[in-house]
Amino acid sequence: MAEKFKAPRGTFDVLPDRMTQRESLLRTAHRIFGRAGYDWMMTPSFEDTALFERGVGKSTDIVRKEMFTFEDKGGRSLTLRPEGTAPVCRAYVEHGMHKLAQPVKLAYSGPFFRHERPQAGRYRQFHQIGVEAIGTDSPLADAEVITLFNDLVEELGVPGVELRLGSLGSIEARREYLEELKSHLRSRSDELSDDVKDRIEINPLRAFDSDHPGTKEVMGDAPQLLEHLDSSDAEHFEQVKELLGAASVEFTIDPTLVRGLDYYTRTIFSFVCDRLGAQSEIGGGGRYDGLISQLGGPDTPAIGWAAGVERILLALDEEAPAPSRDLFIAVAGEQQRTRAVALAGELRRAGVSVEIDLAGRSVKGQMKQADRINAARTLMLEEDGTASLREMKTGRQQQVEPADVLELVRSD
Ligand code: HAM
Repeated sequence: MAEKFKAPRGTFDVLPDRMTQRESLLRTAHRIFGRAGYDWMMTPSFEDTALFERGVGKSTDIVRKEMFTFEDKGGRSLTLRPEGTAPVCRAYVEHGMHKLAQPVKLAYSGPFFRHERPQAGRYRQFHQIGVEAIGTDSPLADAEVITLFNDLVEELGVPGVELRLGSLGSIEARREYLEELKSHLRSRSDELSDDVKDRIEINPLRAFDSDHPGTKEVMGDAPQLLEHLDSSDAEHFEQVKELLGAASVEFTIDPTLVRGLDYYTRTIFSFVCDRLGAQSEIGGGGRYDGLISQLGGPDTPAIGWAAGVERILLALDEEAPAPSRDLFIAVAGEQQRTRAVALAGELRRAGVSVEIDLAGRSVKGQMKQADRINAARTLMLEEDGTASLREMKTGRQQQVEPADVLELVRSD
């Protein structure tokens, strides 16, 4: 049995034993996004702090408590990106992408940073994959991006996933509702958590997300936004539901769904997985029709989502497959090492996976190493210049010309 790194699960999913699954997740995402015409892009690891304050919102937990913010040598305030939508929108505006045919469909992946209390599924540096469809308010785009997430979950085989769907309405239409919600909260402020009480005026919707028993009680009787949508927001929501139904994407309507970022408008959604503990959301997103104009661009509706890579890996909980190689090249004499290096290079360029001994092991040690890496065959370069090829499973051995090895290895 090949040796493997054994990292504690859920705490350190960056060591080699978990890399195979991480890479395969990214490959699946590339395939799914690519076939729907989403182009990959990157944004920097840090941006002006003001971008996140304006984009994500000053009243959010992310901006209030979770940003890694520092001053550079020029006295500018910079922040390690806590999320990807504001940076993608910044790039959209800065690079005049509104002049391209709309919508501009983008995909990204990479590390993000939030100063949260670490636990299983919640890290201070984590990874997201995400898509953004910028420049359309059509419900077709809502259905398309949600379907992409659904495809990702299905193709990866993530078990126990549920899609929750809601709508926040447009900013203008929401105003009246928010006043109603605030007065409900004010009228029972004694029962609320301090955090919710402090944010009645700036972010009353977050009260729906609270775990505090008193707050939960108050929110049980709170007016619900879905019942207060104006006719065009309600119509938009109806169409999204209809399109998802037609695409056989299952969902449940969650009238109390809210999200931790301020930019959302209309459709919001959350994919949760019942195999995870408290951090059960594997991804989510929604429309953000006001964000691009808020960042100085033209009025541009958009929708997208991001998924947490580590949470998906936790939900999959797969054992890494044992590593294996086509060939190990062993040497019986020191002077054969040069030949081994040259031959390994040649075979690798021809597509064969090959390892050689880099640690000066004895012949016995090299054979052990061939076992450890699960090599299908071992080529032994003898001191007298001859060579033999050994099938590791059967122990069968034959004299070979090194020049013929490529063909022999490829023959099965
Ligand atoms: P978010 O809900 O803040 O949305 O994050 C998306 C996902 O990232 C979460 O559902 C979760 O799986 C993962 N995640 C968040 N924080 C952590 C953490 N500390 N450790 C591990 N995983 C985490 C956004 O970031 C939006 N930009 C999504 C979006 C894109 N909306 C529109 N477009």
